[in-house]
Amino acid sequence: MDKKQTVIQVKNVKKYYGDVKALDGIDLRVDKGTIYGLLGPNGAGKTTLVRVLATLIEPDSGEVTVNGVDVKHHPTKIRRMIGLAGQFAAVDDFLTGRETLMMVARLYHVPKKEAKKRTDELLRRLSLSDAADRPAKTYSGGMRRRLDLGASLVGKPEVLFLDEPTTGLDPRTRQELWHLIRELVDEGRTLLLTTQYLEEADALCDYISIIDRGKVVKQGTTNELKSSLGRDVVEVKVEDKNQDETLKIMSSVAKCDTIVDDITKSISVRAAKGADMLVKIVTQLEKAGIKPKDLSVHRPSLDDVFLAVTGNKSTSSSKLNKRGEK
Ligand SMILES: Nc1ncnc2c1ncn2[C@@H]1O[C@H](COP(=O)(O)OP(=O)(O)OP(=O)(O)O)[C@@H](O)[C@H]1O
Ligand SMILES: [Mg+2]
Repeated sequence: MDKKQTVIQVKNVKKYYGDVKALDGIDLRVDKGTIYGLLGPNGAGKTTLVRVLATLIEPDSGEVTVNGVDVKHHPTKIRRMIGLAGQFAAVDDFLTGRETLMMVARLYHVPKKEAKKRTDELLRRLSLSDAADRPAKTYSGGMRRRLDLGASLVGKPEVLFLDEPTTGLDPRTRQELWHLIRELVDEGRTLLLTTQYLEEADALCDYISIIDRGKVVKQGTTNELKSSLGRDVVEVKVEDKNQDETLKIMSSVAKCDTIVDDITKSISVRAAKGADMLVKIVTQLEKAGIKPKDLSVHRPSLDDVFLAVTGNKSTSSSKLNKRGEK
């Protein structure tokens, strides 16, 4: 395995707005050539952290470095290394796509001939060639997002920050952007993105921090996060008349809490080896003369993890039965 090279390092970063702790001691590390996901609900602090990383705001305390360069002391150096596509596409309505990219290239002091070349290349890559000479006010939401992403790529940054790159896009446009994001990383870039979509984090990110109210509540690879909830979920559905007996059998076989879904009435337990547990449960149910209506084993989804760690667990449809309870 290649030795990992740290590109972004965030140590105990805090940013308060009065009583609001937008960032309350964040630590994270992003390795070169990977996609890092900041996953969190509204107001979690995602944009604040991206703005700190992109030198747009200074943290109250803590340390942030990109390629070993301190964000607070060398913002200009940092800006040369990074690209940022903000949460709300910062696109000038009256400029065309081509004019926008050419303008950004000028800001980066790219010579005219090279600027033209880069602009053509990016327009093609972002599937905006046909719309290149139309003012951006005629662009759809997805086109504006792509143009904004294009603008962040003009300076050929090694490190890219994308704040909710696919929010509000339809599923196909989102897939296209995912494809592009993967390509950008395959070319050797390092990328940090924020998202509220679990499936996006799951599909794209090598490593994820779930943040909530300015704090990291969980960090890991998607697989680590899923397995941290422990174990497979074994689900059994029976006739109403057998519900109580099945609950008893399942909690005694699994030796753990059972969760009953109030709506579907299915009973579930967690187990390290779901398939083995299922066989044991079914054997006991057969002995008791109970025939299940439905059986399943699945791994916890990122959804389960998110709900568990942000405390937003929807208790309306499930309730926890303590072991031994009837
Ligand atoms: N300039 C500011 N002044 C006052 N409060 C702010 C400011 N910027 C952010 N906040 C507060 O800090 C908290 C974190 O905001 P932030 O925009 O980072 O959240 P977020 O995770 O990006 O949310 P969203 O998913 O809605 O974009 C929120 O409570 C927000 O109201
Ligand atoms: Mg935000």
